[in-house]
Amino acid sequence: MLIAPHGGELIERIATGKEREELLSRDYPQLEISYERAKDVVNIAKGLYSPLTGFLNKRELQSVLDEGRLSSGLPWTIPVVLDIDGQDRERLISSDGVFLTYQGRKVAFMEIESIYSWDKEEFALKVYRTNDRAHPGVARTYAMKDYLVGGDILLLDGIEEPFPEFNLSPKETRVLFESMGWEKVVGFQTRNVPHIGHEYVQKAALTVVDGLFINPVIGKKKKGDFRDEVILQAYKALIKNYYPKDRVVLSILPMEMRYAGPREAIHHAIIRKNFGCTHFIVGRDHAGVGNYYGPYEAHEIFKDFPDLGIQPIFFRSFFYCKKCNSVANDKTCPHPEEDHVNFSGTKIRGLLQKGEKPPELLMRPEVAEVILSYENPFVE
Ligand code: ADX
Repeated sequence: MLIAPHGGELIERIATGKEREELLSRDYPQLEISYERAKDVVNIAKGLYSPLTGFLNKRELQSVLDEGRLSSGLPWTIPVVLDIDGQDRERLISSDGVFLTYQGRKVAFMEIESIYSWDKEEFALKVYRTNDRAHPGVARTYAMKDYLVGGDILLLDGIEEPFPEFNLSPKETRVLFESMGWEKVVGFQTRNVPHIGHEYVQKAALTVVDGLFINPVIGKKKKGDFRDEVILQAYKALIKNYYPKDRVVLSILPMEMRYAGPREAIHHAIIRKNFGCTHFIVGRDHAGVGNYYGPYEAHEIFKDFPDLGIQPIFFRSFFYCKKCNSVANDKTCPHPEEDHVNFSGTKIRGLLQKGEKPPELLMRPEVAEVILSYENPFVE
């Protein structure tokens, strides 16, 4: 028996042929949305964000900001909202529905339940625990438009989705996990190419469950992060050479990174629960950026959500220990820091930027080769 989706039911908001025809025959206003919002629409429609059926209304937003929960009490920590400007507000305020378009194509129909103003500073402080505009998530929040529109969506044509060969919906992963005979499945979030520390975290977790679901976030990231294509090809090389095929599934999560640390860790766990994972890996500085969050703040927040319904597996920071001659962390290694080599993303990135292969202690050669085969593996 697979784990139940968040809220008990896998949401599906996809118009049937008849609904689509009927809706498209109506004369609703249109609203052009960004690619990132269009991906949110698809994620709502396919149940990745279950139990959400649309973009948040004011009351739900307030509840998420104040409590990290929907008004029903169900854990939900990252607001899924749709911003519009004053002109669009005027245009839409008297309509009960709108076609959401992307590049002019009708992606979805949205019921307009409410249009409301919002407090960006409050949003930033509660979601990101800072209002420092140097934080990439905070900067994006302040760059959003001044009003939010809430209401249910129904997918019409969708969008052209990235990497279709690695893009499974929760409905599909659930069938797949079941067909593989997996009862316990651990989800792994990542925005990076894999170094040995990532591999170790995944394999350590895999030893106590049946299957590993590697689920990289594909979408808007910050400058200097690895490009989506590079991350996927690097994982393909890692799995091909170092993973048992019947124990791992690689599929993408088309969603922007927010770098919201602890709150994003809960959000990441909820989405993996919807995919059918029973467990979720949370390591060092999960979804963090700079020094905004302590290395284990994303572990702490899980104490506030004992009712999450997916089991976190926490890991302290892994490093390579020269004395142990293996990967270790402060729970398993007695040696002093000078014996440790950290899996520093900055160091690995620096070497790759110079066209150099990182040492095999830090990264598998097959993975490094894939990355170095790209002229520019980084987001500009
Ligand atoms: S994240 O923004 O998606 O969290 P990243 O892709 O680097 O960044 O990390 C993916 C997962 O691996 C996170 O749970 C993170 O905490 C964990 N992780 C990364 N490096 C280490 C490490 N050296 N030790 C323990 N956990 C780690």
